Amino acid sequence: MSTAAASQATQNISYSDLYARWERGHWLATEIDFTQDRIDWQEKLTPEERKAALWFFALFFHGEDEVADDLSPYVEAAPLEEQTYFLTTQQVDESRHSVFFNRFMHEVVGLGDGSAGSGLDATKGYLTWGHKETFRNLANVAQQLRTDKSKYKFAEAITNYHIVVEGTLAQPGQHMIEAWLERADVLPGFLDGLRNIAIDEQRHIAFGMKTLADLYQEDPEGIGDVIIDAIRDAGSYLTAFAFPEEGKEMLAPLGLNLEELYADSMRALTSRMRGVGLTEAQRRRALTINPDISFEEQGRMVLQMLEAGYLGEGRLPKSTRPEDVTLLFEMMRNLIAGNPPKDGTVVQFDLTDVGPRYFLQSGGALEYHQTRHPAPTVSIKTTLADFIDIVGERANPVKLILQRRLWVAGDRSLLTGKHSVFGPPTKASARKVGLLERFGF
Ligand SMILES: [Fe+2]
Ligand SMILES: [Fe+2]
Repeated sequence: MSTAAASQATQNISYSDLYARWERGHWLATEIDFTQDRIDWQEKLTPEERKAALWFFALFFHGEDEVADDLSPYVEAAPLEEQTYFLTTQQVDESRHSVFFNRFMHEVVGLGDGSAGSGLDATKGYLTWGHKETFRNLANVAQQLRTDKSKYKFAEAITNYHIVVEGTLAQPGQHMIEAWLERADVLPGFLDGLRNIAIDEQRHIAFGMKTLADLYQEDPEGIGDVIIDAIRDAGSYLTAFAFPEEGKEMLAPLGLNLEELYADSMRALTSRMRGVGLTEAQRRRALTINPDISFEEQGRMVLQMLEAGYLGEGRLPKSTRPEDVTLLFEMMRNLIAGNPPKDGTVVQFDLTDVGPRYFLQSGGALEYHQTRHPAPTVSIKTTLADFIDIVGERANPVKLILQRRLWVAGDRSLLTGKHSVFGPPTKASARKVGLLERFGF
């Protein structure tokens, strides 16, 4: 296969330079002055602004605490001494970030008794489902890394930590908070700390990119698959990370909007994948969203899917509005186009409550028709809600078949396994796919 070289910027990174930058970049979380912040918090910010800020800051506080806890297996698994040295500096950084956030929560907001545990306890109610799932997964992978120190597990762990959590979720959010604080001219101590954190995170992400680019260079296909799987596996909860239960207007009191945050995250993820060296075909396999549209449009689509109840925890009612269903099938089209079946193949979706539609692979292109085909190669019949729960891995298709809520006819090999039009199974779904195959699904 053809491989793309890591970007020049990634190639220019060296572990010893990153270490030296850490030595030069010391700052003191315990000495940041929060005097003006206390005044601003009480007197300048409105209750709505405080609520929005606290929600956003709590995601970061807990994130910092989680990443500080999960890094030690990385230190042990790193193949190069220079990587070990850098990772120990990163561990110190993450603890410093947690100390900083805890100080702010206690000394400015007045939460907890000053101990980290009490600060975390007092703010855990703000966490989203996507946040909890993201860090549950990160902790799982870190745990696996304790016993499996292979380069593949290490690459998976670095993808989750440095590319997804730091590079896709944390950094765009931090930049957004910085922009708000500068514009509103409030919380100078917090802004000072956040700027220092951003410089630390820049180093951490650079380390992750360099490490992955080196591993990828040695084995573009094997490591590429690991990175793609890790991003695909994270997709369902990663998209819901910053999606508040109160709806997407949560940050409006701060003059911020989630559309912008989601666009920035899509932009960041794409640039990280490019920087590591993934080819365009590999990048397409990692995302179920069409990479040819603008990042703004990608961000809007993800938010629309969340609001429609198609992505995320699955608690929101699933929308049957035509514009939402159309968007869902645009995503399906992108997924199938990335794993094209042979010419003439017809994949029929008979959604009983929103009408039938099918995809036809014809002359190297994928056609979409909103009707029933007379002779589909494979067809799936169910309700929209059950279909979305299957795609989101919340419902077991075998159970649905037994309950007579799902019917599958025709060539089932197009739905699961290596030749699935939905892409080869990711590691996270492999166990479930095995179950499906036993039942001859
Ligand atoms: Fe951090
Ligand atoms: Fe970090």
